Amino acid sequence: MNDFNTESHSQSPLSLLQWYLDSGVDECISDDATDWFEINATAAPKPAQPNRSNQPAAATRPAASAAAYPLQATDQIAATAKDLVKDCKTLDELRQKIEEFDGCALKKTASKTVFSDGIAGSDLMLIGEAPGVEEDRQGKPFVGASGQLLDKMFAAIHRSREENLYISNTLPWRPPGNRKPSDAELHICQPFLMKHIELAAPKVLVLLGGTAASSLLDSKVGITRLRGKWHEIEVAGRIIPVMPTYHPAYLLRQPQTKAQAWSDLQNIRDKLNELDGSKA
Ligand code: URA
Repeated sequence: MNDFNTESHSQSPLSLLQWYLDSGVDECISDDATDWFEINATAAPKPAQPNRSNQPAAATRPAASAAAYPLQATDQIAATAKDLVKDCKTLDELRQKIEEFDGCALKKTASKTVFSDGIAGSDLMLIGEAPGVEEDRQGKPFVGASGQLLDKMFAAIHRSREENLYISNTLPWRPPGNRKPSDAELHICQPFLMKHIELAAPKVLVLLGGTAASSLLDSKVGITRLRGKWHEIEVAGRIIPVMPTYHPAYLLRQPQTKAQAWSDLQNIRDKLNELDGSKA
């Protein structure tokens, strides 16, 4: 008889849950609550998938969670988010306001709000995609395997979270099952990110991976073509140089791309030196 046979687990629900966890099943929810009675009774059509740009959504964006936000609601929720943080004067205030916000469904399934790590006020700020399972547990960005690689990469240009590096994400809550953030979620949380950048006031921004790059540069161009070149964004009237580069999770899967990432890192180091020199 096999090990997870009914008898032992019916006597020990905890051991069954542990078995699920050990097997990698760490969610017992779907993105949206489903009213099966309603569906059976009316077979109602689903709301249209929201699309903040009125252009075809990227194929990788999930439709399931987008259905949680009817089209007209997404703009309204984003406007509420913007209004909530518009008067924040410090990063602590901003963190508090984000923790109060209930407009993004991801917050309900996340166990922690992941705001930032590192030195606030550093001249270099990194933006990743969204917290993963370990970040959700610890409440800090990039603490899992890709975070370890990230630390090594930036150590190579003499940057560390303990001294001179500040890190955040496009979203402060983990998407269930580590799926990609939807356009609607990115749109709703964008006012938080913009305020975060405004208050952290870095001299240089690094966007880690396609989600951060396409969201902040408002571009449909992939990371392979965006990386390695300087871009600019305007935040609260200030122009900030931006370097998109590969996400460390991608580098772990495709180690042959590390040479390009190293070239981006050297570029970032040189830009910071140049800006530091022009201060004097
Ligand atoms: N990947 C991200 O993009 N951000 C994190 O915080 C962790 C993994």
